[in-house]
This record gives sequence, structure tokens and C-alpha cells, in this order.
Amino acid sequence: MSSESSPPAPPSPSATLTPDPTWLTALETRRSVPAARLGAPGPTPDELARLLAIAVRVPDHAALSPWRFIVIEGEARAALGARLAGAYRTRNPDMAPDKREKFAGIMSRLFPAPLAVVVVSRPNRETMIPVVEQELSAGAVCLNLLHGAQALGFSGIWVTGWAATDPEAVRLLGAGPGERIAGIVHLGTATEIPPDRPRPDIGALATHWTPPA
Ligand SMILES: Cc1cc2nc3c(=O)[nH]c(=O)nc-3n(C[C@H](O)[C@H](O)[C@H](O)COP(=O)(O)O)c2cc1C
Repeated sequence: MSSESSPPAPPSPSATLTPDPTWLTALETRRSVPAARLGAPGPTPDELARLLAIAVRVPDHAALSPWRFIVIEGEARAALGARLAGAYRTRNPDMAPDKREKFAGIMSRLFPAPLAVVVVSRPNRETMIPVVEQELSAGAVCLNLLHGAQALGFSGIWVTGWAATDPEAVRLLGAGPGERIAGIVHLGTATEIPPDRPRPDIGALATHWTPPA
């Protein structure tokens, strides 16, 4: 992304925020859509720029910007998929051939959606800010991408898997030394909204603090 594609600065919020039913409904219904069910259209260049500006509006201890993006769209999807499939075969020489081909095939088709954003975590190890906090901020970027996409009318899913963890695959994705893949966020227009999955029981997760015994 070049700097000239930065969207205009958003307006300042009014001093008094009021409940926003539309926003609440979006937050209360967000769900992932599998990449195979994400079709055209994907975000336009302007929408992508806006989306990335939303994505980086995350809590970031000491304002380190410990993340960056690699956008995969158009012909790059198949080109990268082919390279990942080749790497999968090379990296798994002892795997049963039919199993290896099955997963290599999955790698070759890893980018079915119109667009994917790779969120790269690049913690600054020269600061006092713990790496885990910087990686948490990268996770927040991934979620903000999903929320921003939803606000623009798109759907998406945050995945990782072999392509995001194998060192050669990570290199092919474009990450460098000291960097990790926080997520591959596939984005597009849902061809079908899947049924919701069961959500955690908040009553079983949240307690009010009491003094330890
Ligand atoms: C760091 C991270 C990595 C994930 N990797 C995968 C993955 O590789 N494949 C997958 O199917 N889901 C993966 N998920 C789960 C999906 O993003 C998603 O949460 C899940 O499909 C449930 O859908 P929901 O977002 O509607 O709750 C991952 C989630 C996180 C937070």
C-alpha cells in the first residue's frame, strides 16, 4: 500500500457518545465466514485503505506499531498458493504421498476469497514493552480488520495453520526474521452466512473479584 492511498482523517467523535444500536447489533452478531464462501466483490482499493486505517486503530502499548500488512489479491493468490503447495511437498518428504498431495492441494487453494490480509507481528525487542503485549496488539489488529470489514459490508475469517507457522511458508508469505504471522484474514462478500456457533456462557466465565482466602 502506498501512502497516497491513505483515507481522509475521520471526524472527531462528539464529546458525548450515545448507544448505537447498529453498532451493537454488528458486535453481537459477528461471525466468521469460511474463506471458500467469500466471493466477489472484495474491498476496492479505497475500501482497503480505509479498512487498514481502521485495523491499526487498536490499543498499542507505547505506540510501537508492532505489526504490518501484506495484501494478497488478484493473480498473487494463485501464484502464492502454488509456491506454498511446492513448499508443503518439500517440507514433508516422509509423509504418505496421498496425504501430502491432499494438503498440498489445500495450500494451492488457500486464497479463494477476493482478498487476504496477512497481519505480520513485528515486536520491537529493544523496548521494555513485553513481546506478548505487542503480539496481543497484533491480534487486536486482526479482529479490527474483521469488524471494519463487517462495517463496510464484507465478511471474513481469521486463520493461521501450516502456512502461517512453517518457517519456509512464512518466508514465502513475506515475513522476515523476528516476525511472525498473527493471522491471515480472508475478506470478501459472503455467498452464504453460516449459522452461528454456540457462544460461551458468560456466567461461567465472569466473576466479581473477592479477596483471596
Ligand atoms: C489466532 C487464530 C487462528 C485461527 N486459525 C484458524 C484456522 O487456521 N482455521 C480455522 O478454521 N479457524 C481458525 N481460527 C478460528 C476462526 O477465526 C473463527 O474464530 C472460527 O471459525 C469461529 O468463528 P467465529 O469467528 O464466528 O466465532 C483461528 C482463530 C484465531 C484467533
